[in-house]
Amino acid sequence: MSKKDIDWGNLTFGYMPTDKRYVSNFKDGAWDEGCLTEDSNVVISECAGVLQYAQTCFEGLKAYTTEDGHIVTFRPDLNASRMADSARRLEMPVFPEERFIEAVDQVVAANADFVPPYGSGATLYLRPYMFGSNPVIGVKPADEYQFRLFCTPVGPYFKGGVKPITIRVCDYDRAAPHGTGHIKAGLNYAMSLYPIMEAHRQGFDENMYLDAATRTYVEETGGANFLFVTKDGTVVTPKSDSILPSITRRSLVYVAEHYLGLKVEERKVPFAEVSEFAECGLCGTAAVISPVGKINDHGKEITFPSGMEDMGPVTKKLYDTLTGIQMGRLEAPEGWIRRIK
Ligand code: PLP
Ligand code: COI
Repeated sequence: MSKKDIDWGNLTFGYMPTDKRYVSNFKDGAWDEGCLTEDSNVVISECAGVLQYAQTCFEGLKAYTTEDGHIVTFRPDLNASRMADSARRLEMPVFPEERFIEAVDQVVAANADFVPPYGSGATLYLRPYMFGSNPVIGVKPADEYQFRLFCTPVGPYFKGGVKPITIRVCDYDRAAPHGTGHIKAGLNYAMSLYPIMEAHRQGFDENMYLDAATRTYVEETGGANFLFVTKDGTVVTPKSDSILPSITRRSLVYVAEHYLGLKVEERKVPFAEVSEFAECGLCGTAAVISPVGKINDHGKEITFPSGMEDMGPVTKKLYDTLTGIQMGRLEAPEGWIRRIK
């Protein structure tokens, strides 16, 4: 076997079918033993719970080729436990966390030829998800579910790679207080499609959502958490019960404190404070750390001193350290890197 003939350096964040994916079905109160399959199609009832009432959740994580040629994943245990949280909130059966990690291992190993080479700028994105599969017509949870996990090689989430992006303050809300913003439910993304397309039509790359109750605090974007850097080099990241607990953000907080010796504040961030920051970035599995150069607040522009050409210096250090850990150039904290090959 050898690497697929793919133009790794020019990949975007898109889907291409790979050789194998993992499937397990839940029926009569139990998960079956699961297996890899070549079949990329899903066949379900026209009345499946997922199609009627959006009973579905997902995860996102990546596999990397390290500098010394191994294939690894980054903190898959945290994706497993977050998916379990999502399932519980959506009245779905939990796919056992150790089986989730095992499925990730199997899918990556079976598609090793699709893992982009070290230094190509691309990675293998893994998408675990589950959905209610049997007919449901009254509003209630399904009785049967399918867990699937496929992978696809990807390039940068925002076109332009690590060039700073421009975002707008959004007038739509992403997540209600006491709602589902803290889990990775498909429904959170369905409601963001109109706002993101509107943002694109207006020439912006992403939306900054504010808290739905008061519209005064920064929440997150449609697919990433925020990181800010103050003028004296403190990393500030919004704390909220209605944002997704990003694994990248949690990792960067640790990296900032323990690798870079920076001060970190996880707290509510009033939007009014944003214009005082020196740097801004979006962090997530897909986004990695994408620098934000400008925020448009209903025509009023906030331009960060880091500008539209390059990442700010602290953002760059965080980026280099995190990707250094993921690609094996820097020693990782215990348990962060899972070697597959
Ligand atoms: N926030 C949202 C809404 C997301 O979809 C994601 C992506 O998973 C994140 C934040 C970042 O989370 P993570 O770093 O775990 O990928
Ligand atoms: C991820 O970063 O894994 C996500 O799920 C975000 C999504 C917008 C692609």
